[in-house]
Amino acid sequence: MQKVKTFPVNQLIDKRGKRFVFEDHDIAIFRVDSEIFAISNICPHKLSAILFDGFIEDENIVCPAHGWEFSLRTGICPGTERKLQTYKTTVIEGFVFIEIPPPKEKKWGLF
Ligand code: FES
Repeated sequence: MQKVKTFPVNQLIDKRGKRFVFEDHDIAIFRVDSEIFAISNICPHKLSAILFDGFIEDENIVCPAHGWEFSLRTGICPGTERKLQTYKTTVIEGFVFIEIPPPKEKKWGLF
């Protein structure tokens, strides 16, 4: 697990997203009241990198294109099998840090 520094926490506007890209992770970061959430920025409907521009309903992010909805806490799209990657966040000395999981091992060849 790698802890990556992102934005100063005071740059996050309540219930507005900010995009953060690190290696192959495209991430949407939100502050909702006093909690910081980080979730994949890629909406699986059209594989669009737009969730940072979505709007918050309760603790869900609603995609601005066609309204698919995902829990910021779990990544789950209610009532479906769909689930987005979520990231653990911490605030250290005024900056938001995100825990990036190690890359999944790629397997090649026949099994
Ligand atoms: S692109 Fe997100 S709901 Fe269609």
